[in-house]
Amino acid sequence: MEDQVQESPSDGELSDDEDKDFSDDENCLHTYRYMASSSSPEGTADRATAVSAIREMYTAGVPFFCRETIASVVRQLEAAKDKDGCQTIDVKAINGETLKFNLDTGRVCWPTYKDGLEYILAEPEVEYWTYHKMISTGPDFAPPLPICSLYISHCMIWRDHITKEPHRPPRQTSLIDTRNCFLETQRLWSESVACKELESILQQKLPYQTDTVVAFALGTMSMGGERGIRSSLFQHALARTVQDVVKASNQCQVQCFSQDPMYNTVDKQVLGEIGISVLDNPRAFLEVTNSSVVISVAPNIPVKEIVTDLSRPAALIWNTVTGKTHECTDPDSPRVVQLIRDHYEGFTFSGDKDIFSDLTVYVRRADKSKDNGGGGEQRASVDAVDGFVDGWEKEEGARP
Ligand SMILES: C[S@@+](CC[C@H](N)C(=O)[O-])C[C@H]1O[C@@H](n2cnc3c(N)ncnc32)[C@H](O)[C@@H]1O
Repeated sequence: MEDQVQESPSDGELSDDEDKDFSDDENCLHTYRYMASSSSPEGTADRATAVSAIREMYTAGVPFFCRETIASVVRQLEAAKDKDGCQTIDVKAINGETLKFNLDTGRVCWPTYKDGLEYILAEPEVEYWTYHKMISTGPDFAPPLPICSLYISHCMIWRDHITKEPHRPPRQTSLIDTRNCFLETQRLWSESVACKELESILQQKLPYQTDTVVAFALGTMSMGGERGIRSSLFQHALARTVQDVVKASNQCQVQCFSQDPMYNTVDKQVLGEIGISVLDNPRAFLEVTNSSVVISVAPNIPVKEIVTDLSRPAALIWNTVTGKTHECTDPDSPRVVQLIRDHYEGFTFSGDKDIFSDLTVYVRRADKSKDNGGGGEQRASVDAVDGFVDGWEKEEGARP
């Protein structure tokens, strides 16, 4: 018999998934998360103390996301799959101390929430807290000490109370239909002006020694509404184009990795067939290096902040950096804005905004100067970014 879990601030915490595009979808099982309870001898911090410590560390340049911490969490999550193995995850906090999360996989929450249904905690996952989220949460914000940017949580899944079968299992397009749709989409995309322009930018501007393509949040190609599926198909076709261009210019093998927790067995099969390797959250971040091209489209996680702390990739194809932080799951933090302003040249991406949203192709400059150099009619948002670092700090009151 499974334990029943009571929610309380010190024993797990509910949080919205913030996935507005998918939370209304009747097939979406990822509506709520349950924060794994943490054991900390130091208890929790009051808001003022926490915010001031966070600001201080951010201003001092302390990385909020570290490769070693992510790698360690990956190893521990893998080991925890063995139910007889350790069921806690140690996460290194921003200040170097350690916070221990107790896993609750399989526990039942709210058993009588709806007749005949119960919520069960699924496998543990990694959640990311942005700098902005940390310093701007409400007066009740009392994070466990030490303060982390990675938290361990569980997705909550509805299941039948009696049969224990998942409620309303997601409808999936068949493998054959998804494969055919992808091939047709790839054909349409490769004939488009946007594709040809993207190829040309990468061929002319991409620095040498680019050896991996790492994609985030391109969605599922086989589940949910028509619009989401169409976007996902095109976005994966774009990733394949980038892989082909990099391969052709370097004349070497180029691996393409993709991470999105929405991927199901059909997605994984089709992606495998077209040469894209699926990685579980947060594994793909470990593949991002200075020699990568990173692709990310409207993610529900702070890809920009994490990548900015980890490396300086050869190119970034992601949502245009404008300094936006509010109501945004992938905010343009001061460090992100500064990285783009100081080290990248931006090129307009002319793809359909309904499908790709507002992407810009950022290519790392060869030198470290702020000179944009050379001109070019396609240059986009680098200039638009200027002024946002100071503007953001003023907005948040981070510095006098
Ligand atoms: C707003 S949707 C965008 C999907 C797609 N790119 C589009 O434009 O329609 C956000 C996406 O972020 C994905 N996501 C959430 N957590 C993620 C994680 N840890 N790593 C990668 N993707 C994630 C969601 O599964 C979802 O597909």
